[in-house]
Amino acid sequence: MSELHEDTPEITELILDAAAKARREVSTEPEPELTKPIKWPVNCTVGPGLEGAIACETRVGYVNGTKGWLIYRGYDIFQLCAHSTYEEVAYLLLEGALPTASQLATFKRRLATGWLMPQTQRLMMGFPIERMNAMSALRLGTNLMRQEFTYLDLEAARPDVDSAISADEDSIPMETQPRGEKHAVYEFPGRRSRRRRPKRVSSTLMPAVEIESCCRLISGLASLAGAVARVRSGHLPIEADPSLSHAANLIYTMTGRRPSAREERVMDVALILHADHGINASTFASLVVASTLADMYLAVGAGIAALTGPLHGGANEQVVRTLRKIGDPANVPAWFDKALQQKRKIMGFGHRVYKAYDPRARVLGPLVGHLARSNEEARPMYEVAQALEKCVAATLGREKRIFPNVDFYSGLVYMCLGIPEDMFTPIFAVSRVAGWTARVLEYLERNRIFRPRAMYVGAFDKQYVPVDERG
Ligand code: SDX
Repeated sequence: MSELHEDTPEITELILDAAAKARREVSTEPEPELTKPIKWPVNCTVGPGLEGAIACETRVGYVNGTKGWLIYRGYDIFQLCAHSTYEEVAYLLLEGALPTASQLATFKRRLATGWLMPQTQRLMMGFPIERMNAMSALRLGTNLMRQEFTYLDLEAARPDVDSAISADEDSIPMETQPRGEKHAVYEFPGRRSRRRRPKRVSSTLMPAVEIESCCRLISGLASLAGAVARVRSGHLPIEADPSLSHAANLIYTMTGRRPSAREERVMDVALILHADHGINASTFASLVVASTLADMYLAVGAGIAALTGPLHGGANEQVVRTLRKIGDPANVPAWFDKALQQKRKIMGFGHRVYKAYDPRARVLGPLVGHLARSNEEARPMYEVAQALEKCVAATLGREKRIFPNVDFYSGLVYMCLGIPEDMFTPIFAVSRVAGWTARVLEYLERNRIFRPRAMYVGAFDKQYVPVDERG
């Protein structure tokens, strides 16, 4: 057991209680068969937004929406939150197994190195990041990281166009049914003939499609988030302290304050909870970009862009603002009735996959309760949150299976850790980059460019009319 876990037994107990409660409440409804090997082409019923579509096979993680399960490489999320750390979980997602002590020590050293990137931070500070959306600043930083850590922008690394034929699916008649080819009829040379490292390129520059780049991005996004938070609060960035853990350094470089053991553990649990979550919008965006054989930095940049939208990542900021505005549990029924009448989506509730209680909210909720006891600002907001949760569960929960999702309590957790609201979603990205990169690595093993189709419902046989004859 790590020292951090020994110093925070009350948090481990809180997580194990949440796990026991989940087991008691788990629904017995059958789950659609999403856990067997695929024989392509596969039949699936697809709704708008590719709801229900099967994009690929995976071993990285599994979300069981009916039972409210979340599993990383076979381990359920409650076990990992109770006994593991974010560094171990990132290794697990990338490598597929929990590390031995020596593997973990080596991985931690790799991550510690990745935090230090003064050149990238200096370049990023050349931009008005105090006036930019924090996620735009984070995405800018990943592009500047790419500038510094890969050789892909060097002239010598330019792919010779002749040998690179794009996967031109449009050349296949649209009427043909997918035949389940493993590879498109035409496509860029796969990993087997990936662009070779050009001669005379420093060994510190990476091709940006391997584990080293993933580690660099996992630490790099945390380091960038720290710098963005500091600059936006009117300070200069702080260099990470190599003696601190990933979670502790995230709090330290964002706030300038070394966290207590309890704060460090809470952040570590929050990072574990957000690390991976199936083929959600941001993971899918990363996979789509990676499938064109762009590189890991650009794929992660796409994930950051997708996560910026409040239907995916930005809801926790809105939740905190809503709870503050409601102000008192007694105001919840009137506020909720008005939201229902106006058919408004209530931030922090609902989920495309979970039709049960989001297991991450099962851990984050009690964590807020634990932290709010000693936080004047959070305590009344937590009481409002509890009252709102009861209102929603009694109506939308019963009628439409709408329950709290990960964003309902995560904002309150970060508020208790002294994190500014505009940095809530960057923290989500700092955690999820482990899932994004793990799934990109896995997908590139049997890459196929993503190319869904659309049903054309427009007109045909229209005749051109010159502009001066148009009405
Ligand atoms: C995450 O995919 C992932 O895994 C994402 C995520 C991850 O880890 O990556 O889990 C992260 O889940 C964060 C989600 C944070 N966003 C919010 O909290 C925003 C509020 N939530 C909703 O926008 C919505 O629930 C979604 C976007 C999360 C899911 O939307 P769906 O599955 O597309 O649901 P829908 O829009 O089709 O709604 C189905 C019905 C509708 O009612 P009807 O038209 O059928 O009458 O449910 C209603 C919706 O109006 N509904 C809600 C609601 N969410 C859905 N009604 C009120 N409040 C809500 N929050």
